[in-house]
Amino acid sequence: MKILVVGGGGREHAVIKALSASPKVDKIYCAPGNGGISALAECCPVKATDIDGMVSLAEQLRPDFVFVTPDDPLVLGMVDRLNEKGFRTFGPRADAAILEGSKVFSKGLMKKYGIPTAAYETFTDADKAIAYIKSQNSYPAVIKCDGLALGKGVIIAQNEQEAVDAVNSMLLDGKFGKSGSEIVIEEFMTGPEGTVLAFTDGRTVKPMVSSMDHKRANDGDEGLNTGGMGTIAPNPLYTKEYADECMEKIFRPTIEAMQKEGRPFKGCLYFGLMLTPNGAKVVEYNCRFGDPEAQVVLPLLKTDLVEIMEAVWEERLDKLDIEWYDGSCACVVMASGGYPQKYETGKPISGLNTQGQPDDGKAYVYHAGTKLENGTYLTAGGRVLGVTATADTLQGALDKAYSAVSKISFEKAHFRKDIGHRALGK
Ligand code: AMP
Ligand code: GLY
Repeated sequence: MKILVVGGGGREHAVIKALSASPKVDKIYCAPGNGGISALAECCPVKATDIDGMVSLAEQLRPDFVFVTPDDPLVLGMVDRLNEKGFRTFGPRADAAILEGSKVFSKGLMKKYGIPTAAYETFTDADKAIAYIKSQNSYPAVIKCDGLALGKGVIIAQNEQEAVDAVNSMLLDGKFGKSGSEIVIEEFMTGPEGTVLAFTDGRTVKPMVSSMDHKRANDGDEGLNTGGMGTIAPNPLYTKEYADECMEKIFRPTIEAMQKEGRPFKGCLYFGLMLTPNGAKVVEYNCRFGDPEAQVVLPLLKTDLVEIMEAVWEERLDKLDIEWYDGSCACVVMASGGYPQKYETGKPISGLNTQGQPDDGKAYVYHAGTKLENGTYLTAGGRVLGVTATADTLQGALDKAYSAVSKISFEKAHFRKDIGHRALGK
């Protein structure tokens, strides 16, 4: 089989690593890919959001499957366009990707079908939103843009002034463009967070092993929100009891709701959960694998990812037994100094061999933002590398990952030193 993977970050590298382990796969293309991905796939210079360009590329390469990984092309309808041209795909069509593309839609769906989530109201008018905030007089207040905003469209306001500023930045100043022309104001929830990714063919849902992201830039969960600074899997706080409760109250009801709405979701559905004192609740849905959740979940997948992809496409996931390895996986993100704000790129990375990997083979490095120039890997993004290791225990996986991190360096590299602490109860 020939497979085209859309995207170019650490998550795509993890998907490609899993696909390349399949005996069914002869050749992988990735568009646009990155320096590290080029060790496993032929990279093609087409942007992930360029729908016309990607359709043309597929027509030229004639892949047997196209794996559309990032949120923007899914929300923009890349799968729909590829299907029209007769290509088999992994990923939801636009009418299902809206689960991530519009928080107003996803909150409405949860309300309609009784799926547990924070109480909320929606607004397009700043005065009405501010009047509501004042009437609630409850802080922190959570204010969210309706649409995609690179993970930055959620503001946790600690007081009335911050809440008013947040509303004005979205509804009046247009800081988030069209994504912020409608907003959700919701109840603040407390509790540890967890991610569950699930394969679904629109009828059957099969959760993967759970994981936990670390979204803040600095140790102790301080600093700005990022795309994710590290992950662990499985998440020890997500117990069997939570798994059963989520299956009954969240996962199955969501898949059935989308089916009833005439928007069957096929692909990987990301459940962002908060384990509150009143049970598990949905923080957000994403229409794709998480980044860097994929980097810790996929290494634990024993079943061939290509077989799962085919079963999802053919809607026979109920017939497939998906198996996982025991043990744990940890990923530590090495980022450019200054990320998620201003940072420099083009810094040479030391400690990687010609394949972009550590020589001792004890960890695997997923490349998020690198390019390969004259045989040297250079930094090319905010998140640069996801240094990942598996072991029998979470502590063992973290030790291996951090040991590998200590042997890799680039100017102004920044990484968290406390990935997994909360999961270990530290
Ligand atoms: P989201 O992009 O919706 O996942 O939000 C980003 C982060 O904001 C989440 O991972 C949570 O840490 C936090 N967050 C979002 N909604 C809430 C909420 N209702 N209560 C508390 N924290 C929240
Ligand atoms: N790691 C969070 C996300 O992928 O949205």
